Amino acid sequence: MLDELKQFLKQPNWRRQHGWRRGVWQMMNRLGLTGLHMLPMSRRWVDIHRTRMPLAGLDPAHANLKIVQLSDLHYSPVVSQRYLIQFVRWVNELEPDLVVVTGDLITGGYRYADRIATILAHLTTKLGVICTLGNHDYSVYGKSHPAESDRRGDYLEKSLKDRGLIVLRNEVHYVGGAGVARPLAIVGLDDEWTGNIDPAKAWAGVDPTLPIVCLNHNPINTRELMGYPWQWMLAGHTHGRQLATSRLGKRFNSHRRREFTHGYYPVDGRHL
Ligand SMILES: [Fe+2]
Repeated sequence: MLDELKQFLKQPNWRRQHGWRRGVWQMMNRLGLTGLHMLPMSRRWVDIHRTRMPLAGLDPAHANLKIVQLSDLHYSPVVSQRYLIQFVRWVNELEPDLVVVTGDLITGGYRYADRIATILAHLTTKLGVICTLGNHDYSVYGKSHPAESDRRGDYLEKSLKDRGLIVLRNEVHYVGGAGVARPLAIVGLDDEWTGNIDPAKAWAGVDPTLPIVCLNHNPINTRELMGYPWQWMLAGHTHGRQLATSRLGKRFNSHRRREFTHGYYPVDGRHL
């Protein structure tokens, strides 16, 4: 019986377990026990949210383009390979045209860079998989060990590119396709925490009249980026339901950090 329960928790069918997992999370949150719910209640709990993305100036050939966003996979000793592979299968079932991975692909050492690249290479798309990097992809040292941070970020970039994935570090990628006159521009920003973000470089030469989607790991600087042309920004980092919206998170996170925590936000006529 115990073994069966363990197996059930390890290999959840997200379609059936969503309701009760949410209920447990809410109850523990009310009691101030948030954080504990991650083990084992929601460590492997995945929601799929569908959002329509109106984009002015989008080429008619891209009208039904389907972008799937993944973020903060944090491949490490506490995130199993089995979980991530299962995840890839679910994404492939959604039949995406494009997959974007908005940072924090790994938390562990170098070996996880190769492993996550191999797993993500199994995503099937028509137009590619685009990755940007987050703070944990550079290490947990922030700005204090720039040489080691860069070495690790570069290694992850190479691992991903070697397997055919696109990596944007303050760069733009144009999504075209058959019969597309005006491409969709995907501007990928580098990580803010480590100081590698350079929006001026990322947007250099980008036609502002094109439909532009920005990938930005940490949405903390969304308002500072309003001077740049983007219609949608896809971000991650905040682990909203795990921390930022919890009782504990609200108590210890500053207001600025809590402005954009999870889900969809309209921001001065744009979309985060
Ligand atoms: Fe992060």
